[in-house]
Amino acid sequence: MARIVGGLTTSHIPAIGNAVPKEKDLVNDPYWKDFFAAYPPARAWVQKVKPDVAIVIYNDHGLNFFLDKMPTFAVGAAFQYQHADEGWGIPTIPPFQGDPEFSWHIIESLVRDEFDIASCQEMYVDHGFTVPMSLFWPNYSYAGIKTIPVQINTVQHPLPSPARCFKLGQAIGRAIESYPKDLKVVVLGTGGLSHQLDGERAGMINKKFDMMCMEKIVNDPESLARLSIRDLVREAGAQGAEFILWLAMRGALSGKISVVHQAYHIAISNTATGVMVLENAA
Ligand code: DHB
Ligand code: FE
Repeated sequence: MARIVGGLTTSHIPAIGNAVPKEKDLVNDPYWKDFFAAYPPARAWVQKVKPDVAIVIYNDHGLNFFLDKMPTFAVGAAFQYQHADEGWGIPTIPPFQGDPEFSWHIIESLVRDEFDIASCQEMYVDHGFTVPMSLFWPNYSYAGIKTIPVQINTVQHPLPSPARCFKLGQAIGRAIESYPKDLKVVVLGTGGLSHQLDGERAGMINKKFDMMCMEKIVNDPESLARLSIRDLVREAGAQGAEFILWLAMRGALSGKISVVHQAYHIAISNTATGVMVLENAA
């Protein structure tokens, strides 16, 4: 049976995607060094555990879904996923391999569980997906791992509630654990932590709230699932609502959780960055 080996979280700021190919030169750069210092321990865990499949829970920011058609929940079922132009040219990173058979198992299981998601046999993946994959699999070394995109709307209100996203994660966990193939599965939750990109509060950060979220997501995610979207926007900013993606990731981890690594850093673009490696023991 497929087994959930753990959860990974990271912020997904587009500027990171541009910095990743220059990481070797930036590890001593005053602006980037503390940011990149957070990743080697997470990469070491990924290399040790060697997951076969990554379920990537992220939000699309207008590349594949725009305001005209915005599914609340969408799951990819393609053989391959590609990045595309988000406004700074056609990206040259290698494509991501899919696993349509596993995708359809998850889609069927979710719909049976009353999550009526959109299934996508063609899907572009944006920085919400590509930046985390490029950070945890350095030098674009993700060719050997299959990926399944799970997209949650954090852009066009109404957004699904934290409680609903936590339950979706639990349903994804049940779907994974009922898949008959012997696969090691890691679940990524991307985005956050506190940030607001526009309006009067542009640039706001709430370190106290972020710290509370990083603490509670380990042993008391239910208390975070009781927050409303309004609470998240007020405390963490309009884009800080991306924390629902972390909650969906956490919902999928059904076993005993231990924190292998965590880091928090303020100063990249407009966003407080958070990294966590949560190991999931059966
Ligand atoms: C930034 C953060 C995001 O989550 C995003 O999707 C785009 C930009 C930023 O801080 O620049
Ligand atoms: Fe974002």
